[in-house]
Amino acid sequence: MDGLSRRNALKAGGVAGAAGAFAMVAATSTGRAQPWTWSPQGSVAGSGSGADPMTVWDPEADELVGGLIDRGEVPRINDALRTWTRNGQPLPAGLPPELRDFMEYARKLPQWTDPAKLDTAIQFNKKRGLYLGVLYGFASGMMSTVIPKEARSVYYSKGGHDLEDRISKTAKLGYDIGSNNAYAPDGEMIVTCVKTRLVHAAVRHLLPQSPHWVHSAAEDIPISQNDIMVTWHSLPTTVMKHLTSWKVPIPVHESEAFLHSWQVAGHMLGVRDEYIPKSWPEANSQAAQVLDPILAPTPEGIKLADRLLGLGANIDLTILSKPVLGAFTRFLLGDHIADGLHIPREPVWDPLLRFSWGPFIAVREGILTAVPPAADPYWLLDEFLRKAALMYLSELQMPISIEIPTMNRDM
Ligand code: HEM
Repeated sequence: MDGLSRRNALKAGGVAGAAGAFAMVAATSTGRAQPWTWSPQGSVAGSGSGADPMTVWDPEADELVGGLIDRGEVPRINDALRTWTRNGQPLPAGLPPELRDFMEYARKLPQWTDPAKLDTAIQFNKKRGLYLGVLYGFASGMMSTVIPKEARSVYYSKGGHDLEDRISKTAKLGYDIGSNNAYAPDGEMIVTCVKTRLVHAAVRHLLPQSPHWVHSAAEDIPISQNDIMVTWHSLPTTVMKHLTSWKVPIPVHESEAFLHSWQVAGHMLGVRDEYIPKSWPEANSQAAQVLDPILAPTPEGIKLADRLLGLGANIDLTILSKPVLGAFTRFLLGDHIADGLHIPREPVWDPLLRFSWGPFIAVREGILTAVPPAADPYWLLDEFLRKAALMYLSELQMPISIEIPTMNRDM
């Protein structure tokens, strides 16, 4: 079944018919190297159909947003939604009733939300903001360029032509989830997630119409539930993996709270509870199945990575230069990925990071009290850490409004 006819199958019956369409697509090959084996018992739902998430999209949102785009209603909706910024704020007047109903439903936190854990997550984010900034920016951000489906869909969608704008919008989600009031009525995370869910639905409708997409991608509809979980793992799972390998001391209740804030985010982005891991071991086992085997360079990802590495020069030409950011990427993601992204080796920073980052973190964390005689590298790494986190935050300085796209990238 080709992309458009698969979409039409979803469109045909609306939400009620989606289950039938889903059964139909589930029978087709998923292109997965190994069959899907991750059990829904490891999820926050504790049970589920066990269907391969590569065969599931977001039928409620997709049907709705596809219709809004086709009827030319989106510009007016974007105008109205620009004023909707806080979680507790009523929806603006003038939205089409079916969109209003969907958004009222989509903005509800899941029943399993634990407010005490969300509070602890806020403490964790505050305490670890600097590390989280560099890790979201470089580990997750650069990893997104070697997730082939994500790299391709970002490149060919509207946001692909203005990468800086696109990064600041994605950074907004990382910022909102880490802010003091993330999911509280005066926070913005729920709004960001609901708008992103609508944007993703729009991308599912639009990209299959792009000639570039059709020619370059061996897939039809982008952003399946599997794809969302792949990207999800490039965020909290990858961040926690690095914090652990750097031996940053994190009490169990804080690491569980951080996970919880991301479990809620997954749900709010439209992921079914049966695919959201209930614990770190479950998250790691799912990531080993969905993320690790698929990381690979693509021509689109190489171009995106190159542009990402160039952004630091806007802030500090020396310490955030392309070669230094490249070395940090190599340090975080390894030689295989760095070579695949054509990142050149860096004679000073590659060994500096390899040998001094671990001790540097240990000194910062008070685990190692005696600073070695050559303290210069520590000063340099501290400077790098602060500036790199700043680079990430500086992407957030302009007012950011997440908007539903109505077209693909104009190539
Ligand atoms: C848009 C976050 C998964 C592709 C966005 C936006 C955010 C976001 C905040 C709005 C920013 C904007 O309008 O540019 C996330 C998060 C994900 C996720 C947190 C998972 C946890 C994915 C996946 C794909 C994808 C798996 C593709 C395979 C896109 C595209 C856009 C977008 C193409 C639209 C860019 C445009 O405006 O043209 N995403 N995303 N996202 N996302 Fe995602």
